[in-house]
This record gives sequence, structure tokens and C-alpha cells, in this order.
Amino acid sequence: AGSPSLFTPLQLRGVTLRNRVAMSPMCQYSSEDGFANDWHLAHHAARAVGGVGLLIAEATGVVPEGRITPNCLGIWKDQHVPALRRMTDFVTANGAVPGIQLAHAGVKGSRHRPLHPQRNRYVPLEEGGWLPVGPTAKRYGSDGPVPHELTVPEIHEVTNAFAAAAERSIAAGFRVVELHFAHGYLGHSFLSPLMNEREDDYGGSFEGRVRFLIETVRAVRAVLPEDAPLFVRLSCTDWVEGGWSLDDSVEASRRMKEEGVDLVDCSTGGATRDASIPVGPDYQVPFAERIRKDAGIATGAVGLITEPAQAEAIVAEGRADLVLLGRQLLREPHWSLRAWGELGATTPAPIAPEYAWAL
Ligand code: FNR
Repeated sequence: AGSPSLFTPLQLRGVTLRNRVAMSPMCQYSSEDGFANDWHLAHHAARAVGGVGLLIAEATGVVPEGRITPNCLGIWKDQHVPALRRMTDFVTANGAVPGIQLAHAGVKGSRHRPLHPQRNRYVPLEEGGWLPVGPTAKRYGSDGPVPHELTVPEIHEVTNAFAAAAERSIAAGFRVVELHFAHGYLGHSFLSPLMNEREDDYGGSFEGRVRFLIETVRAVRAVLPEDAPLFVRLSCTDWVEGGWSLDDSVEASRRMKEEGVDLVDCSTGGATRDASIPVGPDYQVPFAERIRKDAGIATGAVGLITEPAQAEAIVAEGRADLVLLGRQLLREPHWSLRAWGELGATTPAPIAPEYAWAL
């Protein structure tokens, strides 16, 4: 029997992942002024030593008002780079590839973190909050101010901020950059007719709604080294009639491929609270499968992937090129090592030499 597909290396441009297991980006809500600290180092270090192929750092604000909470990670100034560099150096030294998700929270910004007694509520200006911005001056939740509708020059500034953040990411040692265009945050809110009610060049038709995506991809690709893969996380459907759809995602993915995007990370939802979502194991895998086949681009599958045999089947059946695990890697940082054993992989064990000799 050959080695399992999950432990076949994946090459994207100049980067080779030792296996198909990635840590999905997960906000830690533990930063001050956007800086990474010992918590971020420990969070990443544990999963690198635990054998994942790729670690994608949490949604990281490209501008201060692009954070979800005042405690989100940021990369809007050069001073953020050294602490991130410490993290990526450790990850790289332990055989994993460090990646980062660049993000702008849009109308969902300026919220209290989940650990706060007022979780998800608006953080007023005097408590360190800000006025959220979006394609349209429309609230997402029921509290907080009406967001500011971005002007066209302001949209261009955000695109430039994504590019500047991508340059800093490379300086910080990240080798994969992912753009966050999912979950109702700024990128997705331009795509979705549920959130974008503009009537200018950045709204209306499909053409208008994908403009911010394509321009941002182009600006980021232009500053990334040729050998650095670019990922985009999409919400592949809004799960409601009249929302952003899987067909839209396929067409957007075709265009992204032409612009030099290497992988579409296939999530769903987040544009509205009124969607009914059939959550269960593999529930988002069909989106990764369809985009992979119809747009001819590598995809990542995410969402309730928890078992080694389950992950193996997704890759072996050609439904996705990469599996991303979120919560299971919080429970079990060494999941990859367990999967390696359970699947009978013949590639080298994804384990640090400090532990390997003892086991
Ligand atoms: C998330 N998720 C998420 N997604 C994203 O694109 N950027 C982010 O920063 C975060 N942050 C985040 C924090 C925490 C604590 C959780 C649990 C989730 C979503 C996450 O990446 C993933 O898509 C979902 O959790 C589904 O995968 P699992 O957890 O079922 O494997």
C-alpha cells in the first residue's frame, strides 16, 4: 500500500508543505495594539511541533480599524514585524510552513472579544473602539453606530494597505499569504449582494462586486515574491436565495487563478444571521470539490474535519488539495502525529527530534 495522500507533500510555487494538514486561522484575541506576544508563539509552536504542514496565523488587521476587536493581531506598521518573525522562525525550524491571514473586519469591526463580559457588543470610541467601515452604510448587528460607507479613494487605500501588509508578512518570515474574503468581513461584504448595496463600480453587478477582490489580489500578487503562494479564503455561499452563491465562487475563482492566486480556502456563511446552515462533518467539502473541478485551482476544505480517515478521504478522493483544521487542533495540537500513525504513513514522522528519539 502506498503512503496515505494526507502525508504526500504539496508543492505550491516555491513552497513545499510536508503534508496536507493545515491549521485554519483562528483569532486568539490576545494582542495589545496588534502585537504578537508569547501566547501567539506558544499557540503556533505547539502545532508546528505537533506536525501540521502549514500554519495560518489568525485574521490579522491590515489597518487598525480592520480588526474585529481591540485585541486582534495586526500588521499595519513595521514595528509589528519582529515579534511575528520570532514566531515564524520557530515554526520554520520545526518543519512547518508559516502562513498568515490578512484581514479587514469591515462592518463587523470594533467588537468586544469573546472573553469580555460584553462579548460581541460594540466597543465605543472612548474604550478604544472605532467607527466600522464597509461597502454600504448598513449595520450588521443591532447595536453600535451605522458604519461609514467607503469612498472610492478609501477603497483604494484599503487595497494598498493589504499590499503593504503582504510585504511586511514576507519580511516577518511568512511564506504563504491568505486574504480573508469570508465570513461577512470587508472582503466578503463587497462580494455579497446581502451586504453590498453600492451603485458605483464596486457594487451592483457581479463584475462590480468582485472588483475589490480582483484589485486586491492583483496588488498583493504584485508585491509578493514569485515563489510565495497566495491563498484566498472565500465564503463560497451565503446559504440564502439571492446571496453570493457557489456559481459566483466558481467564476470568481477562475478569475483569481488568472491573477496568480494558488489556492482557494473554501468556507461559507457570515453575511447574514438569517441563513440556515446544515452544519455537520464535511459540510463545506462539496464547495472545495466543485471549485477545484470547475475552476481548475487548488482548494482547501475546512469545517468539522476531525478524524484522520475523514481527512484522508477528502484528499485521496480529489475533493481538495489541503484540509484545514480549526477546533480539533485546539483540542489536540498533535493531531497530525496521531493521523500519521493511524493512517500508517511511511514518510518521516512529523515530530520534533527532541521527542522523536524518546518515542
Ligand atoms: C475561527 N475561524 C476563523 N476563520 C477565519 O477565516 N479567520 C479567523 O481568524 C478565524 N478565527 C476563528 C477563531 C476561533 C476560536 C474559531 C473556533 C474559528 C473559523 C475557523 O478558521 C474554521 O473555518 C472553523 O472553525 C471551522 O473549522 P473547524 O473548527 O470545524 O475545524
